[in-house]
Amino acid sequence: MPMDASMTSEIPPSSWRNYPIQQQPVYPDQDQLEQVESTLCKLPPLVFAQEIRDLRSNLGEVSNGRGFVLQGGDCAETFADFGANRIRDTFKVLLQMAVVLTYAGRRPVTKIGRVAGQFAKPRSADYELIDGVSLPSYRGDIINAADFNEAARVPDPNRMLEAYHQSAATLNLLRAFAQGGLADLHQVNRWNMSFAKANTVTQRYLDMSERIGDALQFMEVCGIKSANAPSIRETQLFTSHEALLLNYEEALSRVDSFTNKSYNCSAHFVWIGERTRQLDHAHIEFFKHIENPVGVKIGPNTSGDELLALIDALNPDNQEGRLTLITRMGADVLADKLPQLIRRVQSEGRHILWSSDPMHGNTIKSSSGYKTRAFDDILRELRQFFSVHQAEGSYAGGIHLEMTGEHVTECTGGAYQISDDDLGKRYRTQCDPRLNADQVLELAYLIADNLKEVKVADEQI
Ligand code: PEP
Ligand code: CO
Repeated sequence: MPMDASMTSEIPPSSWRNYPIQQQPVYPDQDQLEQVESTLCKLPPLVFAQEIRDLRSNLGEVSNGRGFVLQGGDCAETFADFGANRIRDTFKVLLQMAVVLTYAGRRPVTKIGRVAGQFAKPRSADYELIDGVSLPSYRGDIINAADFNEAARVPDPNRMLEAYHQSAATLNLLRAFAQGGLADLHQVNRWNMSFAKANTVTQRYLDMSERIGDALQFMEVCGIKSANAPSIRETQLFTSHEALLLNYEEALSRVDSFTNKSYNCSAHFVWIGERTRQLDHAHIEFFKHIENPVGVKIGPNTSGDELLALIDALNPDNQEGRLTLITRMGADVLADKLPQLIRRVQSEGRHILWSSDPMHGNTIKSSSGYKTRAFDDILRELRQFFSVHQAEGSYAGGIHLEMTGEHVTECTGGAYQISDDDLGKRYRTQCDPRLNADQVLELAYLIADNLKEVKVADEQI
């Protein structure tokens, strides 16, 4: 849906419509679809261009070793699970992880939620077969419903409006949490989302909280306190999602009057999934026309040539902070596949922020039938991600996780030693299995310990 032409001479990001496209719904009623798109075009943007530019320059700093990116949240948000407590818990678990990375890892952390728009899901099959009945797959609440009946699975454009309003309300609360006191460093104990009574990791967190408390008291005596130091009192949480449903993404793109360029104002950061990053297809075309910092998921079969072509397409001017490559290769193959990609990027002198998604290459079916991930595989992929980058003289700058503040049993292992048989106890995800708060905390310390070893660019001079 082209935007109001009077706003600017810049071409709106609609050219993707002329390209082949994967993983899209087929809407039965085109008129209704166009009506919804035109309604969305008139609604206020969810985020502002200046915030997007801030994140982009932030990510540029990170790519040079001066920081770390923490990106995480649900595999998929749903309409049914929408509520204040879940938003608060996602926020707290991100803060908890970030404070560990900042304190123990000694890096400023840029926080990006997989939230306020993470609704559309790519699927491995177009149809789902249960007991001899075949129905179109569930593609996320922004497209159709998960219930297994014919009516539920029909794509409904009105779901885009519901997703927009849920995202707006979610963002509103997140902004309030970020600035209204919950993110104050004095609250570091309140961010503890661990359910484990006592183990070395939770103890480490409690000890750290105490030391932060001491430091804050000392600073207060020196006159630096929440009331006069915003960096103690508040934080910034950026939002992100997979920009899969391009009708929605285009309708929420706006031309910024300051720069005359198009920004996708549905989130600060958007990424292209492993299944939709074909060079001559619609998603790459759409991303070429937005100014946001963007990510691309990189699976184990990506060749150096393919990677370079992707980089050329998405970051032709080689700007810092524009492009994040999120590797998701699997614990068994990363050490084999990643070094050659890093070398290729280095030999071509490309500015890349490298992030690790240790989740999507390690998904398995448990003997009890659940889709799960072993915490040990996740740790193993992450460890290798850090050591490969270190060996290649490249900076491992971020992590991308599916996680929740809820006490779920979806990934096996971790402090609670969740077994295959435990998975059914609190398996709540609509899509992929998420790390729970205890597993996230354990991971945070692993990353922090790795970060401590890595010197930042300035320190090396
Ligand atoms: C995801 O991040 O939920 C996802 C589907 O990832 P990928 O594209 O890497 O499979
Ligand atoms: Co997922």
